Amino acid sequence: RALFTVLALESSADDTCAAVVTSSRQILSNVVVKQHDLHEGFGGIHPTVAIEAHQRNMPGAVRRALENAKLTMQDIDGIAFTRGPGIGGCLSVGSNAAKCLAAALNKPLIGVHHMQAHALTPLLTAPADRIPEFPFITLLISGGHTLLLLATSQTSFDVLATTADESVGRSFDKVARLLGLSWGTRGPGAALEDFCRRDIASVPDVGSFPVPMAGKLAFSYSCLHSSIERYLAGTQGPLTEGHRVALARAFQDAAARQLCEKLTLGLERLSLRNINPRHVVVSGGVASNLFLRTRLRAALDVYSPDVRIELVFPPLELCTDNAVMIGWAAMHRFTSGDYDDYSIDLRAKWDI
Ligand code: KG4
Ligand code: ZN
Repeated sequence: RALFTVLALESSADDTCAAVVTSSRQILSNVVVKQHDLHEGFGGIHPTVAIEAHQRNMPGAVRRALENAKLTMQDIDGIAFTRGPGIGGCLSVGSNAAKCLAAALNKPLIGVHHMQAHALTPLLTAPADRIPEFPFITLLISGGHTLLLLATSQTSFDVLATTADESVGRSFDKVARLLGLSWGTRGPGAALEDFCRRDIASVPDVGSFPVPMAGKLAFSYSCLHSSIERYLAGTQGPLTEGHRVALARAFQDAAARQLCEKLTLGLERLSLRNINPRHVVVSGGVASNLFLRTRLRAALDVYSPDVRIELVFPPLELCTDNAVMIGWAAMHRFTSGDYDDYSIDLRAKWDI
């Protein structure tokens, strides 16, 4: 079958992304323009600021994606974009650019589900002999989502668990803010992870925070971050650095413990249905947390000591938002001729 080359655009949240990928699993370019510095002062993504930054940055990102791939638009066979879910105004920047390019150049167009794209990334990035086989379990942990999914094909995903309130990524962001951490270049979640690793002589015992909804296949993170908030409100005067590190560690430990417990609970429930996935794919911004990775490995070894369940992480730069995953998630539809119309609408809210 002939090589198919896709230009993909992504702008669902605060990263402006453009990339070129091919049907032979090649990543020809991957441009991500971050906006952390613009949003830090607001303590989270400011929608208007994000939209304006996408509008400024998208043309340059597309230009660089083509240049880095050493291609021109003539070499592009199809254009993919993130159709949703995400912030409506942000999505519209990438979507309008993709639709107009495709219409003007008479190229096929495909709108992609952002979360499906996260889940399918390992099919592109895993070594050829370690590509996850369906059905596999996916833990999608980002600023927008905390989802445990069973992927049964490229387009079908059963939701095993989702969050009852806020996402695990957002709780990392909020706790980083409560502890007064500056974002650095990698954002608040990574700043909190780094802070936990700080070498401190005396760290007080702040106890440990429980996993909510024991025995239920559901996540909850708002009670965890409000426990930290209450703890801070109950202490007199400014905390010592040791105390702040202790709280950060207790939070990160409880956040990871919850992900591990719900993952193994999901595996137990599936095994009752005779479904025993051999791969667990973990993706989304929080998947870059190395403490969590160690905990997940240990939890799977305890759950299944005899048959090793493989943990699969996309490379760090493809765990967070990027357009490579969007191009790749559209590939099976491009190669089978299943295109969208140029008038396709957005889905700011869109079930997986
Ligand atoms: O996937 P992503 O880049 O964007 C969304 O689609 O939301 O995920 C961003 C989230 C943020 O909440 C960020 O704080 C969190 O992922 N994050 C981390 C780490 N790196 C990013 N959380 C914990 N530890 C990290 N190392
Ligand atoms: Zn994402």
